[in-house]
Amino acid sequence: MTDQENVRLEVTIDPRLVPIIGRSQYSSHPLTIVTRELLQNAIDASKRQGTTKQVAVVIKYPGYGVENGVTITVLDHGDGMTPNIIRDKFFKLGATSKEDDPESVGGFGIAAASILSNDEWAIRTNDRVFTSQDYRNGAFTRNKRFRQGTSVFVRITGRTYFTDVVKAFQMIYYSDVDVKLAILDEHGRKKFYDPHAGFRSLGEPQRLPESTAQCELSILPKVRIGGVEFGYDDTGSDIVRIGGLVQFANRSSNERQTNLIFDIKPDHKPGDLNYELSASREEIRGPISEFVSKQISHHTTNAISSLKAVLEPEKPKDARLTPGKMATGTRLVRFKSFKAEHWSSQGWQEIDVQSVELTETGNLIITSKSGLSWKFEDPTIESAIDRDGQAIEFDLDVNRLAQMLGFGSRSELRSEMRKRKEQKSQNAAIAFFNKNYTCSAEELELHTKIVETWCDILQQIAPMGESFGIGVIKSAYAEAERTNYNGDTFYLINPFSIAEEPDIEGMVARLWLTACHEITHKEAWTHDEKFTILMGRHIADTTKTFFLQQKKWIRMLQ
Ligand SMILES: Nc1ncnc2c1ncn2[C@@H]1O[C@H](COP(=O)(O)OP(=O)(O)O)[C@@H](O)[C@H]1O
Ligand SMILES: [Mg+2]
Repeated sequence: MTDQENVRLEVTIDPRLVPIIGRSQYSSHPLTIVTRELLQNAIDASKRQGTTKQVAVVIKYPGYGVENGVTITVLDHGDGMTPNIIRDKFFKLGATSKEDDPESVGGFGIAAASILSNDEWAIRTNDRVFTSQDYRNGAFTRNKRFRQGTSVFVRITGRTYFTDVVKAFQMIYYSDVDVKLAILDEHGRKKFYDPHAGFRSLGEPQRLPESTAQCELSILPKVRIGGVEFGYDDTGSDIVRIGGLVQFANRSSNERQTNLIFDIKPDHKPGDLNYELSASREEIRGPISEFVSKQISHHTTNAISSLKAVLEPEKPKDARLTPGKMATGTRLVRFKSFKAEHWSSQGWQEIDVQSVELTETGNLIITSKSGLSWKFEDPTIESAIDRDGQAIEFDLDVNRLAQMLGFGSRSELRSEMRKRKEQKSQNAAIAFFNKNYTCSAEELELHTKIVETWCDILQQIAPMGESFGIGVIKSAYAEAERTNYNGDTFYLINPFSIAEEPDIEGMVARLWLTACHEITHKEAWTHDEKFTILMGRHIADTTKTFFLQQKKWIRMLQ
């Protein structure tokens, strides 16, 4: 070329800029981007070919943060690339063959840039192969027989942590695909394999009425992604998809137990300046973006405030379901005289009473000289059980007890106990935990009674002195749950499952047995042999209370 010649007016870029373009567009980890770009291309290519053969994704994860250690391979049986497509579409940044294809999920035509941002890669497509080394040497594609379709291998440059693999998981599992997914360890052995990874394997989402023509909104409860051993519990993610394929997903709040899925139908094409997604595909723009962020904040606030209802001293306006105060497990006894006997391995033993105390909260604490102590809420009922679950029976003169404590008579003592109890309950925070629970107006009345009875049963059979709140849970599997929130213990009941009992007697028995079950979880986490034995002990311990209180609980449910 001489100085006199004219130049053709076209933009070319220096290859050194390619990785910079590839990465600068994104804030995510390269594994996330590569997974998304390769998955989208593989799915599009499979659709064009009309194949039913699955796309396969293999990720090698040799361990925590190994430098250049993670590789990903995406294989499809799609239409593959001809030399012309490789040159004019794949390697030409910004070019696409999908402009007029409503079926595919084309983007900005920068898959090559995202691949080339990594030092080592290899692509096979139909009868061609080309690698990072060929590219660096300025070589050509080579002929090598491969089956119909494409396989892209990329070694991710830099460190990859498990949280980055999790993001790749989200790309796959939250997309409407049916993919074979394998995770390999550093020796190439399978650590995890899912023959049908994809959205459908997680369950059926529920379409929300807020949906619009441009954006369909669905909700999917808490899921476990990637199997029991290798995976993790994913909760509270906001997922934006186009054509069923995840564009980006952000974990929202840990408190939120639901995944929100926004299926967007863009009005514009990727080349258009008004396109709804940013170049990074990690942000939405325009009117849909307002819709999405409004829904996210609305939903998150609601979910969290329903959890935090426990801390609010007011009843929710729409429900009567708020019987809970922080309750305390108590065991009731009848005081006959001031002689107490205690059941031990040696049989019934007389208790050498050291002291009797009336607490601020209206309970009587009786302590023996040997250091054992018992707490009584109301000295009128027959049996008592101590902390270790051993039966004790008191033969106690309440008048004498009242005198000991400086009261004129037993009725003075009783009214003082009642007064202190009332004061306590007025000060107590409402401790009511709503976990995903809603019900219809017709169900509310019975459910309220169930929860009130549940509270009363627990107060009488929970471990003595244990403070707890109560609440409701709605779940297809759980009948009840013992859970911790903000350092407090809650016993949650699923009123739907109790209401299945055909009669009230059955409901009472089931509430009692369920309470015994949940109380056992204080000591044993899994449902094993030990659990069975401990639960049997709780049932035996509380049988007497059950028979004494049964009629009252039946009345409560009527
Ligand atoms: N796995 C594949 N199978 C067949 N063709 C592919 C594959 N991956 C990429 N291509 C071709 O390369 C082109 C450019 O891909 P890409 O840069 O991801 O842009 P886009 O997906 O937006 O079209 C695609 O339009 C397609 O023609
Ligand atoms: Mg693409």
